Amino acid sequence: MKENNCFILGIESSCDDTAAAVINNGIVLSNVVATQKIHEEYGGVVPELASRAHQQNIVPVVHQALRKANIDKNDVSAIAFTRGPGLMGSLLVGTSFSKSFAMGLKIPLVDVDHMQAHILAHFIKVEGQTVPKFPFLAMTISGGHTQIVKVTDYFSMEVIGQTIDDAVGEAFDKAGKILGLPYPAGPLIDRYAKEGDPKRFKFPKPKVDPMDFSFSGLKTAVLYFVEREVAKDPDFISENIEDICASLQFTIVSYLMDKLKNAVKHTGIKEIAIGGGVSANSGIRNALILARQKYGWTTHIPKFEYCTDNAAMIAMVGELKFKKEMFATNEVTAKARMKF
Ligand code: KG4
Ligand code: ZN
Repeated sequence: MKENNCFILGIESSCDDTAAAVINNGIVLSNVVATQKIHEEYGGVVPELASRAHQQNIVPVVHQALRKANIDKNDVSAIAFTRGPGLMGSLLVGTSFSKSFAMGLKIPLVDVDHMQAHILAHFIKVEGQTVPKFPFLAMTISGGHTQIVKVTDYFSMEVIGQTIDDAVGEAFDKAGKILGLPYPAGPLIDRYAKEGDPKRFKFPKPKVDPMDFSFSGLKTAVLYFVEREVAKDPDFISENIEDICASLQFTIVSYLMDKLKNAVKHTGIKEIAIGGGVSANSGIRNALILARQKYGWTTHIPKFEYCTDNAAMIAMVGELKFKKEMFATNEVTAKARMKF
């Protein structure tokens, strides 16, 4: 068992956010994110541009994280970084930086699975929030992933359901693109949905295995729906954007809830946690709050800043692994696809 008072620097660079954070015994001292604006012009993440922007951002972001945490680089006990899954070019920047940082300061290096980090973000100490009790079900919903994981212990996880095509965040973003909204469209759809009628339009819920997900059909359904309505009325989108977004969000949220209900039935576990960028969505957050009364579930909803990609969650896993002396060697390489 390692010393208790440790300062872990976390680095996240798996997609289009360059992030660094410092954690001290489960308490986040700093959490810095540089979101790359360049991708908005292209309506999605351009891997080559992401990698170059990470190279520009990483040093200033780390400096800022150390300064905000009020510590010097020599106070850092270990550096934890996202090894994968993600975009190879992006991962390489964080991996190479972390390896050199660890080597230069002669401190341990800890590799982190990004998807595990979205789940273990729930163990960051937040005033007024309790941490999940094992075993629990974690639904990780982001722009790259959609899965339900049975979590028996910190590093004992089993995927029991996942998407067979697009991720739920992609469904939000691609539907948004069809509606002419800028990337990423998820937060905008959420905002419009608050003003609209969720029952006005009907969208299909794709049929797959009870705990699996499919979103590509929904995207096509939105496309055909919009084309049909715009042919009748060219102003259809602008005149109905709130109702379209509310109906779309209602369909997605009830689909996610159906899958969670199936997973609860299958495992008998009623302790539920969500993670990933889409868990910032107000519809799913409200549905999970209602589920406490409705189904007797205990639901854990992370703070907004720990939902989307961030380095605090990487530092949290780093701390858990550091205390168990689960270190990486300097031969460790980035991995675009990972399994746990
Ligand atoms: O976890 P994340 O930051 O990055 C990935 O690992 O993918 O998730 C980003 C995704 C994007 O698809 C974005 O549209 C979606 O999360 N998102 C939302 C909301 N906030 C972010 N989707 C729906 N409602 C939101 N409020
Ligand atoms: Zn993520």
